[in-house]
Amino acid sequence: MTIKEEIQRRRTFAIISHPDAGKTTLTEKLLLFGGAIHVAGAVKSNKIKKTATSDWMEIEKQRGISVATSVMGFDYDGYKINILDTPGHQDFAEDTYRTLTAVDSVIIVVDVAKGVEMQTRKLMEVCRMRNTPVIIFVNKLDREGRDPFDILDELEAELHIGVRPLSWPINIGAKFKGVYNIYENTLDLFQPDKQKVTERVAITDINDAAIDANVGDADAAKLREDLELIEGVYPDFDEAEYLSGKVAPVFFGSALNTFGVKELLDCFVKIAPSPRPIQAVERTIYPEEEAFTGFIFKIHANMDPNHRSCIAFVKVCSGKFERNVYYNLIDSGKQLRFSAPTAFMAQKKSIVDEAYPGDIVGLPDTGNFKIGDTLTAGENLHFKGLPSFSPEMFKYIENTDPMKTKQLNKGIEQLMDEGVAQLFINQFNGRKIIGTVGQLQFEVIQYRLLHEYGAQCRWEPISLYKACWIESDDDDALDAFKKRKHQFMAVDKQGRDVFLADSSYVLQMAQTDFPKIRFHFTSEF
Ligand code: G4P
Repeated sequence: MTIKEEIQRRRTFAIISHPDAGKTTLTEKLLLFGGAIHVAGAVKSNKIKKTATSDWMEIEKQRGISVATSVMGFDYDGYKINILDTPGHQDFAEDTYRTLTAVDSVIIVVDVAKGVEMQTRKLMEVCRMRNTPVIIFVNKLDREGRDPFDILDELEAELHIGVRPLSWPINIGAKFKGVYNIYENTLDLFQPDKQKVTERVAITDINDAAIDANVGDADAAKLREDLELIEGVYPDFDEAEYLSGKVAPVFFGSALNTFGVKELLDCFVKIAPSPRPIQAVERTIYPEEEAFTGFIFKIHANMDPNHRSCIAFVKVCSGKFERNVYYNLIDSGKQLRFSAPTAFMAQKKSIVDEAYPGDIVGLPDTGNFKIGDTLTAGENLHFKGLPSFSPEMFKYIENTDPMKTKQLNKGIEQLMDEGVAQLFINQFNGRKIIGTVGQLQFEVIQYRLLHEYGAQCRWEPISLYKACWIESDDDDALDAFKKRKHQFMAVDKQGRDVFLADSSYVLQMAQTDFPKIRFHFTSEF
């Protein structure tokens, strides 16, 4: 197979959802179709089971398990599919944001009873920033839920994306009979069976009498009415609009019952994009280019004290990645080669000799990498697009063992490179502030500083609402702002100006009072 063919058959994507909508179940069913697993229940959910206040070591144990399922690769119908797993716990949302920078498309799972939930809304914002193509799977049709038309309206309004149903349910809940597959013009009858796939009825079109014979006259009439409405309200499905992230095709089904999943997968492999060109600071990089390039979007530390190494996850962007070949780690200037790069097929990790654009390679690491690093065959390139988001929780970090200051500083630096949290230095008092998206990160940091670096720290409260990056074309305006807010100015790791707003009111006032200042809520602008 030529490199071009290898690229074209790759589909690298993530499944995202609010916890409990059915992401794990859907992932598992996709793996079943790909022959990557053989029985349902084989995929360990990496969501944190029902314990919101959970002890984070337990979570780390589960995350440890999830290294193996971080990327699930399998072949289906000639396509090479890479599913990138995302952490279910919202305290690790930042991990999920970063994973989304390494995918070429996304499947969003929505619970038919609950509709669009908070986490889905947030994740969709990240997809929108990058115009990531999105397919929506409305799940749990075997349970009572909302009217499908209401769901479509909600998806459009809440996710700010056009929708186009490509399948349509015949009733829901106890009366659920199946879906009409608009994309392929077939009727799929529902059989509640966790291992069995859909029964497909061959029909010519929506007027085929076979529909009435299978679902009854009344439901067939209702279906025709619904479809007429859909044709009237929603424009025809346009692949280009999907690929540009403007319109999301919508499928209905029940992941638990393996219903509507194959239809989703069949459509997905046809329409979802293969790896696309990526914008680096210097130029656009095309997957077909001969020279290898890739970037690190995730670093997974091993919590086991006996094997304290990390795995850095690299997305191959162009060319062919090869084992034991020297590559440049831009920024550090180091030349590195890897004797044991791993790829992820099914649920196994194995050493690979080569990988192609779209693939994810795991590189054992002992502290060389940081999130966002670029690896190339030689060219000096920097990938963009691994933004940090304004954290929502803040604490001062204080050293409690003056003899270990060096260790503490090194530990903080490395953990920040790994993307565990963000560091800001208050310009007024010089104190270090750690910003996170969830409470758990503080515990993770304290534990890891002690166990990996022998450094002790304690947290001190600081009351902040948000940290945002500021800039202006007008230097005087910027200076005036910094002077006025000098107690609330900090710099991030790259030395950029960050404003620490202590309330939403203060932030709003600052935005009104200083119209020449731009306030950014992600680090990339
Ligand atoms: P998540 O990864 O998005 O958090 O969701 P997950 O797949 O773990 O699914 C959450 C719950 O919803 C699970 O039940 C799962 O069995 C159920 N579920 C998923 N798809 C469907 C569906 O199509 N219909 C129905 N009725 N239920 C569905 P649980 O009781 O929380 O877990 P488990 O004990 O069954 O694993």
